[in-house]
Amino acid sequence: MRNIAIFASGSGSNAENIIRYFKNHPDVRVDSVWSNKKEAFVLERARNLGIEAHYFTREEFQDTGRMIDELRNRKIDLIVLAGFLWLVPPEFIDAFSIINIHPALLPNYGGKGMYGSRVHESVVNNKEKESGITIHLVNKEYDKGEHLLQIRCPVYTSDTPESLATRIHELEYNYFPGAIEEFLKRNR
Ligand code: GAR
Repeated sequence: MRNIAIFASGSGSNAENIIRYFKNHPDVRVDSVWSNKKEAFVLERARNLGIEAHYFTREEFQDTGRMIDELRNRKIDLIVLAGFLWLVPPEFIDAFSIINIHPALLPNYGGKGMYGSRVHESVVNNKEKESGITIHLVNKEYDKGEHLLQIRCPVYTSDTPESLATRIHELEYNYFPGAIEEFLKRNR
């Protein structure tokens, strides 16, 4: 069995979708969900689905040893960032494979401070004709790791950041779990 830990900072609709996808999966299980926000709805979603949910502080995250030990004890094979907003310390990147999803076509609209609605606001304000999602490996810089998958969608002149966010979320729900499954299959 391959074990996933999900890191998320917000609502967690992707985390929920991933948990549901791998429920009863023969080879992959979501072990736990981890959030840097005590009040993040993702923690409640996880618990409602019977998945362990943990909050951690910035100190625990930066002073990486204990968290890494905990994840190793749990035999985590992959960390999935699903709307996680902090830069991951290099010790985690050396210790685990980590996959992130970004709600735009990287390298455009990426980097520090570019997350969630801010990305969609910039895309709409710049009158882009298309946007999409990028699923990529995480390295030591924000949004710079190797791309695993990019999927495009149109941006309409009538779009608002909210309507674009809805279209992008649909792409995320449709493609993120499969990309995780594929990555685990290829990296045994
Ligand atoms: C998702 O759209 C994800 O791509 C984005 O945050 C959203 C989280 O939504 N991630 C980033 O912007 C990372 N830079 P969710 O909490 O409903 O899954």
